[in-house]
Order: sequence, then structure tokens, then C-alpha cells
Amino acid sequence: MKKVNIAVIGCGTISKTHLPVLKRNAKVNIKYVVDIIEERAIEAKDKFGAEFAETDYKVALNDNEVNAVFVLTPNYLHYTITMDALNAGKHVFCEKPITVNYELSKEMYELAEKKNLILNIGVVNRYKTSVNIIKKMYEEGKLGEVYHVYCSFRSFRSIPGLGGPFTTKSMAGGGVLIDWGVHFLDLILYVLDADAKTVSAKGYNKLAKNMEDYLFHGEMWAGPPKYDGVNDVEEMISGFIRTDKASITFNGAWAQNINVPEMYIDFIGDKAGVRMMYNGPFTVYKTENKMFETVSPDYENADMFYEEDDAFLDSVLSGEKTRSNIKFVLKSAKLLDAIYKSSDENREIVL
Ligand SMILES: NC(=O)c1ccc[n+]([C@@H]2O[C@H](COP(=O)([O-])OP(=O)(O)OC[C@H]3O[C@@H](n4cnc5c(N)ncnc54)[C@H](O)[C@@H]3O)[C@@H](O)[C@H]2O)c1
Repeated sequence: MKKVNIAVIGCGTISKTHLPVLKRNAKVNIKYVVDIIEERAIEAKDKFGAEFAETDYKVALNDNEVNAVFVLTPNYLHYTITMDALNAGKHVFCEKPITVNYELSKEMYELAEKKNLILNIGVVNRYKTSVNIIKKMYEEGKLGEVYHVYCSFRSFRSIPGLGGPFTTKSMAGGGVLIDWGVHFLDLILYVLDADAKTVSAKGYNKLAKNMEDYLFHGEMWAGPPKYDGVNDVEEMISGFIRTDKASITFNGAWAQNINVPEMYIDFIGDKAGVRMMYNGPFTVYKTENKMFETVSPDYENADMFYEEDDAFLDSVLSGEKTRSNIKFVLKSAKLLDAIYKSSDENREIVL
């Protein structure tokens, strides 16, 4: 079988999920691992059997044997590295969100189209087994008309790497919405095959306005606080979206003074409703023969990260676009922009 030679750029947290699944995929050869922090690149090379560890991603882009790159860096670098990679003739898998805003995301899409290269985005929930079961139930009419979807991505104390790339708007594009909300809203649009029409939302930066006052337990994910850094993004956001299918309400919080984490989506149909916990399991609520029925189906759970990376490799080998191609993900980037605009301008936005 022809193997895809890849470079993995960025050896931080999410690389530890992609590298193991790539290592056990027979379609791939990990030629380079790259990180500006040299020890991370060397550690990844040793652990996952890459041929080279580098600190400058351009070394990999200049190698004619490299067919594709994985961009696993902070959000603002998704744009720069993806554009450089496409210009060097490489196919690209780029982690979510596409990048910090819709305008730059569109440029990435247009360049991939112009160069006739695959550009997939890490909207991994499109490969989650339960999401696809619910999508099929919806398409087969088992839920009836789904007129509303509610989602909650709320945590008690989960601001990541306070003061670093995750909380600096110019580097991340936003806070909890672009980091967690993108997964929820993208999967809702995917399940319903919906297009957003209007949005009204409000984001809040309250609990770590003065970073040193932010109290949290144990270790902060994405690194310890950098008190000389920046926190200018929302840690909490709430909003209402109208689509051409259902309306959607969402409540998200990296941090809030309510210690009851909630991570789920409710698809509310006139025949049945489904509550899907974000980690996968779901329950269907319906009435049958004038009786209430509640079912939590058993299903075989696929490894969504394996499926996502495998679909990318298949696309590279076949030239066919898959469900996570940027072409099908751009609409969630457009929605995120509208949500931020609504919050900034305190008004409803028409998309
Ligand atoms: N799909 C998911 O569920 C999921 C989960 C976590 C993170 N992510 C996304 O993955 C991306 C990375 O997140 P993370 O949590 O791994 O962050 P991280 O900070 O842990 O890792 C990023 C790595 O990129 C490296 N880097 C920075 N600039 C670089 C450059 N110019 N060249 C090479 N390496 C460079 C950093 O040194 C760091 O090791 C983000 O966009 C995030 O949104 C997706």
C-alpha cells in the first residue's frame, strides 16, 4: 500500500491523541515531528518512531517526500502554517477551530481549492459514533421535527493556560466559545444539516479579569498561569441561534460560580427527544402506544480520533472530500464570528 508521509507540527496536548492513532495506522509514515520547544519534538520522535525531530516546520515543508502535514499548534498559527503548507503543495489536517476568524478561514479554504489539495479540520465529533446514530435517526424521521436544540458546555474552574495563547484573543480568536463551543455548535449543524440565520449572544470575562484573583484547584490545563500575559477572552457565553431547521440555545463556561459541570446536547423533536452526553452516551425519550418510553441504546463505540485521521489519509490518497473537509466546516466558523459580533455590539446579527 502507498503510504502518506507526514509531518506533525506542534507536539503539545492534542498531539498526544493524534500521534498514537497515527502510529497504528498502516497508511501513514510519520517522517517529522516539529515543535519550537525542542524537547517536545525529541520526546515525540522517540515515543512514536518519527524519523526526524525539528524546531522549524519549514524544514518539513521543503522535503518533497512529505505529502501531508498535521497542524496542531495554537489557533492563530493554524492560518500561517496551513497557508505555508498549501503553498508548498502539501495536504493539511488542521485542528479546530479553523483559525481565529471567518475571513482568514475563508482564505484557507480558497487556497486549498485553488491548489486542489485536501484541507480537513479537526471537528472530531463528526466521527463520534453516537453523533452519527443520532444523525441517522433524525434523517429517518424518528425524532420527527426537531424544532429546538439546547446545549451546555459548562465547567466550574477550567480556564486553560491563563495569560497564554488560549486566553489571548489575537492568538485564540476568543475563549470558551471558540475552544469548546465550536465542537458543540459544529456537531449540531452537522446532525441537522442546518445553516444559521440569526444569532443573539453575550460573552463575559469576569472571574479572571484580575488574573491573580482567579482561584482554581490543582493543575491548570494547558499550562500554569502566566500572570504577565493577557486574558481578554470570554470565559462564559450564552446565546440563541435561529437556523433554517431548529432554533438553538447554548450556555458555555470554562469557569462559573456554579460547581455543577454540564456537558450535553438536547435534540428536541415532536416525535422524540434525545439527550446526548458530550462524551457519547445518549438517551431517547418518546411515547409509544400512549406510554412513555426511555431508551439508552448500547452501541459499539469507534475511536473517533482514529476515524478522523483515517478519513483524512483516505482523502489524501483518493482526492475525495470527506465530512470534515473545510468546505463543510466553514459555516460553523461563520456562525462563531456572528456570535462574537452580536456580543460585542449588543444586538442580533443576521448571517
Ligand atoms: N479536537 C480536540 O478535541 C482538541 C483538543 C485540544 C486541543 N485542540 C486544538 O489543538 C490545537 C493545539 O492545542 P493544544 O492543547 O495541543 O495546545 P498546546 O499548547 O498543548 O500545544 C501546542 C504546541 O504547539 C507548539 N508550537 C507553537 N508554535 C509552533 C510553531 N511555530 N511550530 C511548531 N510548534 C509550535 C507549542 O510549543 C506547543 O507544544 C489548538 O488549536 C486547540 O484548539 C483540539
